[in-house]
Amino acid sequence: MVNTMTKLTEEMKKAFSMMKIFPVATASKDGIPNVVPIGFCRLVDDETVWIADNFMIKSLANLEENPVVAFYIWGPDTGGCFQIKGKAEIISAGDKFEKMKEIVHTTKPGLLAKNLIEIKISNVFQCSPGLGAGQKLI
Ligand SMILES: Cc1cc2nc3c(=O)[nH]c(=O)nc-3n(C[C@H](O)[C@H](O)[C@H](O)COP(=O)(O)O)c2cc1C
Repeated sequence: MVNTMTKLTEEMKKAFSMMKIFPVATASKDGIPNVVPIGFCRLVDDETVWIADNFMIKSLANLEENPVVAFYIWGPDTGGCFQIKGKAEIISAGDKFEKMKEIVHTTKPGLLAKNLIEIKISNVFQCSPGLGAGQKLI
C-alpha cells in the first residue's frame, strides 16, 4: 500500500546527503523498467525530492504514463542503504520550475532544464543485506 506522504528520518537524510549520483528507476505502463544515473536529485524537504530533467527521454515518457519512481541510496559513506519509492509530478512552468532551472544554471549554464520532476516520497525500505533486508521502514 502506498502512503500519501512519508518523512525521511535523520539517518536517511544523512545518507541522502552523501550521495553524488542516484540510480533512478521508472517503468512504462506495460512494466518495462528503465534506470538512469541522475546527478541533480535534491531533497527539498523531508518528504519531497526534486530531479532536474536535462536529458530524459525514456524516463520522461515512462513518467508521463506511469508516474512512479524508485531509487536507492547507498555509497561507501552513507552508513546504510535505503530504497525509496515515490510518486512523480512533471512540472514545466511556475515558481518551482524556475527555481530548479536557476539552480541547474548556477551549476552549469548550458543545461536544458526541460522539466522539474517533483517526487513525493511514499515508502522507504531497508536495502542493507542481512536481517531486515527488504522490510518496509516507513
Ligand atoms: C553522472 C551522470 C549524471 C547525470 N545526471 C543527470 C541529471 O541530473 N538529469 C538528467 O536529466 N540526466 C542526467 N544524466 C543523463 C541520464 O542518466 C540519461 O542519460 C538520460 O535520462 C536519458 O536516458 P533515458 O532515455 O533512459 O531517460 C546523467 C548521466 C550521468 C552519467
